[in-house]
Amino acid sequence: MGEEAAPLRAPAGTHDVLWPESARWERLVAEFARRAQGAGFGLVLNPMFEDAQLFRRGIGDESDVVRKEMYEFEDRGGRAVALRPEGTASVVRAFVQHRPAVPWKAWYVTPAFRYERPQAGRYKQHHQLGVEVLGTDDPDVDVEVITLAADLYRWLGLRQVDLAINSMGCGECRSAYVAALVAYLEAHADALCDEHRERYRANPLRVLDCKRPQCRAVTEGAPRITDYLDEACAAHLARVRAGLDELGIIYRLEPRLVRGLDYYTRTTFEFAATSLTSAQNAVGGGGRYDGLAEAIGGPPSPGIGFGIGIERLLLACDAEGVFPVDPPRPDAFVVDVTGGTEARALCAQLRRAGLGAVRAYDGRSLKAQLKQADRSGAGYALIVGPEELARGVVTARPLRRPGEQVAVPRASVVEWLATQATNRDAKDDQ
Ligand code: HAM
Repeated sequence: MGEEAAPLRAPAGTHDVLWPESARWERLVAEFARRAQGAGFGLVLNPMFEDAQLFRRGIGDESDVVRKEMYEFEDRGGRAVALRPEGTASVVRAFVQHRPAVPWKAWYVTPAFRYERPQAGRYKQHHQLGVEVLGTDDPDVDVEVITLAADLYRWLGLRQVDLAINSMGCGECRSAYVAALVAYLEAHADALCDEHRERYRANPLRVLDCKRPQCRAVTEGAPRITDYLDEACAAHLARVRAGLDELGIIYRLEPRLVRGLDYYTRTTFEFAATSLTSAQNAVGGGGRYDGLAEAIGGPPSPGIGFGIGIERLLLACDAEGVFPVDPPRPDAFVVDVTGGTEARALCAQLRRAGLGAVRAYDGRSLKAQLKQADRSGAGYALIVGPEELARGVVTARPLRRPGEQVAVPRASVVEWLATQATNRDAKDDQ
């Protein structure tokens, strides 16, 4: 054997989420699922990789996500595939492929892969919670989708979240607007950042999204899409705004908001956590994509949705000091100093009865097991030593609330603990 190899690490820009941090993920996903289901959404699961054409056609060849960030490769069979950089294109592809009845409302939780320079809040693999609604362009759906996200932030306890809304109009308003924008950019091309001085013609809307100060200064005075909306698109936006106002959702109209994916039409929106100082403060975003299903070969079917970045959302929670989640606490820690047989049997019985039970292994000493029991956060230590074994009892010692330890008959300890656990839950709820 040669020298020991250096331990392998997770690739830069990816991360492991270990317990107890993962308890927050579980809680967040469960709450999101509960809310989405309550609003009529069902879970959709899609492959992590797709034919690369799906993203090229769906998200747009000229978008940064496709041009610079996609994990695209040829598989062993020579097919061009890509890891999903986001959720929407796959969900719409599944809709087109399976043609479920409309309106089709789907929610998801998914990893997304983007080849980006890793920095705080920007990863090569991140995770999104999202919803998509297909088959209707009713502005009430826009309101419903935006409200679902806004209410989740509020439930988490976040107060510093700014919601920006815009409309990208339909294809027609957009071509009139893009012509005006290109003329404006042409006149100011020298002042644009290096990248956009070269590329503004290929995708002029991208310039509005550029965070570099040169482009920001130029776009300050650029024509506004909201001045180019036709009657129907303007009316749609007005109805979305009125709906949000009625529900008390606070937002600001931001005509420069174009978002990084090219499929958007009409309503677009983004939630920014102002507690995060970095440029990576978008904690969610979405919008309508009324032409996406057609662009990937399906029937015309309007749609809208959002994606919320889980890592960013949790960073925002940390910044505001909200959403602490206690790791789950077992009902009992079984301490066995008779050799381990009791711990094995009692844990199995308790778990089969739906109670949480943990134990130590490797024949550890009483002291070591009690220490571990304390650390476990369990409600009770259930102690079985030679004396208990001889008397047919278990010593139940409360660990988290003051109280006397009691000897409980071995035969009824499962029922006894179940009663204690119910009482404890009731107290916790008070
Ligand atoms: P997106 O704005 O590209 O939209 O991403 C959604 C959210 O994912 C962002 O607001 C951010 O919280 C998070 N995110 C994006 N990239 C990264 C990254 N590299 N590292 C960490 N977090 C990130 C979409 O993906 C659309 N599919 C949303 C949508 C759904 N539109 C309509 N339906």
